[in-house]
Amino acid sequence: MGKFLLGTNWKMNKTTAEGLAYTDGLTDIIPKFPEYQFFICSPYVQLWKQRELIDSKKSTLMLGAQNVHYEDCGQFTGEISPVMLKEIGLDLLEIGHSERRQYYNETDYTVNKKVLAGLKHGFTTLICVGDYMQEKEFGVSAEVLAKQIKIALHGVDEKDLDRVWIAYEPYWAIGVQGIPAEPEVVDSLHTMMRGVLVDLYGERGKDVPLLFGGSVNIKNAVAYAKCQDVNGLFIGRAAWHTDTFEEIMTALREAGIR
Ligand code: 13P
Repeated sequence: MGKFLLGTNWKMNKTTAEGLAYTDGLTDIIPKFPEYQFFICSPYVQLWKQRELIDSKKSTLMLGAQNVHYEDCGQFTGEISPVMLKEIGLDLLEIGHSERRQYYNETDYTVNKKVLAGLKHGFTTLICVGDYMQEKEFGVSAEVLAKQIKIALHGVDEKDLDRVWIAYEPYWAIGVQGIPAEPEVVDSLHTMMRGVLVDLYGERGKDVPLLFGGSVNIKNAVAYAKCQDVNGLFIGRAAWHTDTFEEIMTALREAGIR
């Protein structure tokens, strides 16, 4: 397993000016925390400028888009293709976030097409999976996540597995209405997801980073990071300011997370 991953999804927030100011600030902080690999997933319109800024600062910060289409080009008004994102020189594609699944008809099957397209074009793919509260209450979260992972990875060759990351983000834990997950739930579902990956890919399945996201903040970040098979945190609101993000980094370091 590589470095512990720490990243943020801005969703539909930050103008380009705000995004560049944040990126500038974060690239100044990152050298203080060499034990972590950082990434941000930003709105499309600022990716070119962010790429230039990150490169000009010779930063290790990985840059990703929040979505992608699965075709290289075509009659898909308003969509952005992996070829276009490749041209920017992005590192990462976030695929299947719960908000895309809930509001934009993203399905397990379109997620799979996007994963295959992203891998074909050389990206690391950050696949988001999650369960609804009702599924949690009915005790089927494990089955739901296993199904999502198996479909997302259908046809993914073992040789590409080093460019696959998976984030568990319970729908019920995300955003302003979110209820933070109990660390025990995260622990047990991450162990289960690791088992699914090992079933699919044998020993190689142990190397796929599993991230957790959903109402991660300074109060709970260490507890989540200490869970079995949590190899990174994917943070929304609590990382949208570099100072609160840095507090989390410091707390993780003090807890010995690597
Ligand atoms: P919050 O941390 O704001 O709940 O969002 C998490 C998220 O959606 C990361 O992708």
